[in-house]
Amino acid sequence: MNTLEAIAKRRSIRQYKPGEISRENIEILLKAAMSAPTARNCQEWEFVVVRDKNMFKKMMEIHPYARMLEHADCAIVVCGNTQREHAPGYWIADCGAATQNILLAATELGIGSVWLGVYPNQERMDGLSRLFKLPAHIKPLNIISFGIPAEQPTEVNRFDPAKIHYELW
Ligand SMILES: Cc1cc2nc3c(=O)[nH]c(=O)nc-3n(C[C@H](O)[C@H](O)[C@H](O)COP(=O)(O)O)c2cc1C
Repeated sequence: MNTLEAIAKRRSIRQYKPGEISRENIEILLKAAMSAPTARNCQEWEFVVVRDKNMFKKMMEIHPYARMLEHADCAIVVCGNTQREHAPGYWIADCGAATQNILLAATELGIGSVWLGVYPNQERMDGLSRLFKLPAHIKPLNIISFGIPAEQPTEVNRFDPAKIHYELW
């Protein structure tokens, strides 16, 4: 699959079949994440890989739109290290780029995934920080849920020329 195909095919997958995502594939996802661009090459990301179903339950109590974790095989909490960022707030863009790389790599590998927003919701951030014992300078951006796809949403074309402004607004 080439890059443009992966971009076109990527959809949020929230229904999963039983089955394991291999450790090798998780490493490929994390390698893709850490290939993303970051401001001043700060690479201020941190990743918490979660496979413990009890933790999934606790995550679902914290995050109101994370019911798919019930059947997920794995999750990654993408976090930013604010002590490493180039300037305040850059961690959000940098870890967002890493997240998108993970979603595209998962598409290529046939792994179902969905981005579950955490930042800037303070309640979710505080809940996850407590649950995973994150130090104060480590901020959770999102949870990515993974599983073997049990649904195959169709490709969508969201291209809208009205959103494009040439030279000036
Ligand atoms: C910042 C962000 C937060 C999101 N939060 C959630 C979420 O909490 N729960 C969920 O099921 N999907 C979540 N999504 C996935 C979006 O709902 C999804 O990307 C959007 O509906 C477009 O569908 P697609 O990913 O299939 O193209 C989130 C996506 C982003 C980028």
